[in-house]
Amino acid sequence: MTDADTFLVTSEYRRFAEFCDACRDYRYIGLCHGPPGVGKTLSARHYAHWPRFEALPSPWAASEADFAVFANADAILYTPEIVNSPGGVRSDIGRLCAAIRFLREEPGKRAEDLELAAEKHAQDRRRFEKLQAIDWMRTELAQTPSKPTPAPAPPRAPLAPVRLVLVDEADRLRMTSLEQLRDMFDRNGIGMVLVGMPGMEKRLARYPQLYSRVGFVHAFRPLRAAEIRRLLDDHWREMGDTLPCDGIANPEAFAAIVRVTGGNFRLLRRLLSQIDRILRLNNLAEVTPAVVDTAREGLVIGTV
Ligand SMILES: Nc1ncnc2c1ncn2[C@@H]1O[C@H](COP(=O)(O)OP(=O)(O)OP(=O)(O)O)[C@@H](O)[C@H]1O
Ligand SMILES: [Mg+2]
Repeated sequence: MTDADTFLVTSEYRRFAEFCDACRDYRYIGLCHGPPGVGKTLSARHYAHWPRFEALPSPWAASEADFAVFANADAILYTPEIVNSPGGVRSDIGRLCAAIRFLREEPGKRAEDLELAAEKHAQDRRRFEKLQAIDWMRTELAQTPSKPTPAPAPPRAPLAPVRLVLVDEADRLRMTSLEQLRDMFDRNGIGMVLVGMPGMEKRLARYPQLYSRVGFVHAFRPLRAAEIRRLLDDHWREMGDTLPCDGIANPEAFAAIVRVTGGNFRLLRRLLSQIDRILRLNNLAEVTPAVVDTAREGLVIGTV
């Protein structure tokens, strides 16, 4: 993992995680919207352990450590294709749920297989010992009770053990794909969180059947000044930049960072790398408002 991928737990992430927990526990559809770059995707990925999931070459190649991470996993993160169809949505979500099911059930199955193999081995040994005593042979083999047939397993929900489906870039979903999601929601008794841009909730309000199932709406907010201060003070290194060891000590420089980024996480990280570059190029030791200003000039700042 590179430093740029390091996930920092912020109060906005905690609010998001509580929101997801509530949608899962109450089996609601939740809408989470926020401007670009505030951290919606990274938060959803962290919540569902998705970087770890995607790093698996395949669930079958999972290590013991991977199995431990997913031992209680009950959420998936699904990002629809730009052009999406109801069939694609259904099969993609089904495939992800099957992978989580495998990761949760496989360790138990392997332990069971080992137990069975040990039991069979012990049985073979006992039988061999008995066969050695010829007298035993006829009587014992005839009396060996046949194994009882196991009772059929009760049918389970098709998406189990997944209880929460997070859908990133939900703005991409076409009407028929939204219908598909609603159908999966109804049939499986799961929670869903649709993550998208502000305005998504207004668009979805045009589909009354889906909208009437929405239980919670969550606005993902930009970082506040105090949170930026905390991140800069405590997580300086993890943010991937080799800035001066006293961080941003100059209060005016800090105020300039807050102003330039508006609390947008994407911009904050970009601005910090620019500051880092400018300090190194100019052999400077302190982050001043002038350094922040020069760094800002090198940034492409969209409307956020
Ligand atoms: N919790 C976090 N810890 C560390 N970095 C973060 C965090 N959240 C966001 N970032 C940084 O901000 C960038 C943008 O985050 P993210 O892609 O999650 O935004 P988004 O809200 O999904 O934006 P968009 O609407 O454009 O998809 C990330 O690439 C990362 O550099
Ligand atoms: Mg995103």
